[in-house]
Amino acid sequence: MSDERKITFFPQEQTISVPAGCTVLEAAQRAGLVIDSLCGGKGRCGKCVVKMLAGEVREFKDMGKKFLSAEESSKNLRLACTICVEDGMEVMISREPSNSGIKGKEIDKIVPIDFVKRINKRYLNLKTNSGQNQISDWERITHVLPDLKQPDLKTLKKISVLMRKSEFKATLTSLDNEFISIEPGDTENKNYGLAVDLGTTTVAVYLADLNTGQILDTGAALNEQSSYGADVVSRISYADEQPKRLAILQKAVANTINELLYKLLTKHSIDRKSIYLITLVGNPTMTHLFLGINPQGLSVFPFTPVFAGSYNLRACETGLVLPSQAKLEILPLVSAYVGADTVASALAADLDQKGPPRLLLDIGTNGEVALACNGNIWACSTAAGPALEGGAIKFGMRAVRGAISEVNITDDVEISIIGNHTARGLCGSGLLDAVAQMLGSGLISKTGRLKDFQSLPEELTPAIRRRLTPGETGHIFHLTPDVYLTQGDINQLQLAKGAMRAGIEILMAEAGITFDDVEEVLLAGAFGTSLRADSLVTVGLLPPFPQQKIKAIGNAAGAGALLCLLSKGHHQRAVNLAKEIKYVELSLQNDFQDRFMKGIKF
Ligand code: FES
Repeated sequence: MSDERKITFFPQEQTISVPAGCTVLEAAQRAGLVIDSLCGGKGRCGKCVVKMLAGEVREFKDMGKKFLSAEESSKNLRLACTICVEDGMEVMISREPSNSGIKGKEIDKIVPIDFVKRINKRYLNLKTNSGQNQISDWERITHVLPDLKQPDLKTLKKISVLMRKSEFKATLTSLDNEFISIEPGDTENKNYGLAVDLGTTTVAVYLADLNTGQILDTGAALNEQSSYGADVVSRISYADEQPKRLAILQKAVANTINELLYKLLTKHSIDRKSIYLITLVGNPTMTHLFLGINPQGLSVFPFTPVFAGSYNLRACETGLVLPSQAKLEILPLVSAYVGADTVASALAADLDQKGPPRLLLDIGTNGEVALACNGNIWACSTAAGPALEGGAIKFGMRAVRGAISEVNITDDVEISIIGNHTARGLCGSGLLDAVAQMLGSGLISKTGRLKDFQSLPEELTPAIRRRLTPGETGHIFHLTPDVYLTQGDINQLQLAKGAMRAGIEILMAEAGITFDDVEEVLLAGAFGTSLRADSLVTVGLLPPFPQQKIKAIGNAAGAGALLCLLSKGHHQRAVNLAKEIKYVELSLQNDFQDRFMKGIKF
């Protein structure tokens, strides 16, 4: 019998042969198809549900029962990471890929860009040497471009050859006065750059005209690494298992950027040869993986990154399909868990400028908190867990079509669903609202217990009471007939908010202030934009800040990357910020555990 097994995926009708022993999830990954996989195929998240259409099913991990009801199993639903591919297998990827509905992140707030051209293109139409005054090629160039720094020998040779070939009519390109390239003819008006926000879940790319400083367009897509695990911990463990897996993750993220790049350049009829500079931000795991560096040191004490300062290289060295002259600048990071994305957000939020105490939060699986106060900036990272990104929640999902994104409880439950779709699950903002509203209605106790029928407040309407039903392991609360919250879901949210709250309190204690002293609470990231301030305060993720102090600032990390793309001054500010930010390691704080345990309660 051959060692290869054939499997066909629907609705794509894509057939692939894989070695024996490959799981259905791994086969889909090889075929470039996305199946939700928050735990990276470890059988722990229950998100990789597929429908078996044909072929013998052999489950090697008995995890399905934990996540799938008897009814779901009878409908041939299985977890893709628990089944080995058998020859002739046919599988329906039953859920829509998570990237449906991801939109380009908007730059909602960007500090005014004092645009200072970083990439200078200059058309040189030099007279040929008469023989009378034998001025060198380089002198004639610097006569036009006096600030240009002398290049190395290899480059000097290249310049001389090309100048002659083009009869001294060529365009010279420099980055901050360093020579980059020389092209025949006049190409001065073709000068573009990209800012990339490399998120664990979403990758956003901004295309800018580097002659005018104008932002031309934005693209965003699900990070292709997502099918190897939803959070940084599962990606690190996947990458560390085998060297070739590190390469797989590197390629996946380069592919994501390449696809976005292709779409943007095609739409604007821009030749990729006209891209000269890319600035990139991301958390430390993302930037390590993007460079193909094993991030294992980030996950074990003493949590050490391989590099911290800004890292400059040729973009093509990372697998980006760009010409060799395109420069890539990875902005500096602060520590193993406070990365260039936090530095960029702090830059866009002006945390390095004078002002009253300001708190900057990026809420997610790894929540980042930064506090600016009296000329100091402190930052920490909290392991909030995957609940707010849909992980470890019975009907949790990302904020895509079919996700309940908002919940209100009055006489009955009112929900908002993303896209024109029936509810398939609930995303982070929906979960936060649901728990906040259930707390407000007395359905959940201060300790987080979902009350039973006997202890419900009398004023609750019959419509709401009917939504509380007995489940397999305790009561469940229905938001729709098919989507409900369990006690476990509430507990997961408690863990997330307890961790964030502890981080906030510890930074305020470092600065010697109380929450009354904080003048602004800035919520960064696309997720921050979708969260309701009242829900954040009601569940206690935030201390009781007045709502007018809480402001969503959109994708601040992307805005910071753009600032660095468009201004040398802002780039220098980012470098300084990374040095100024004082990192606070929460696991070394004596009071962390106490604050966390207190923060878990409502
Ligand atoms: S349970 Fe299969 S990927 Fe998580």
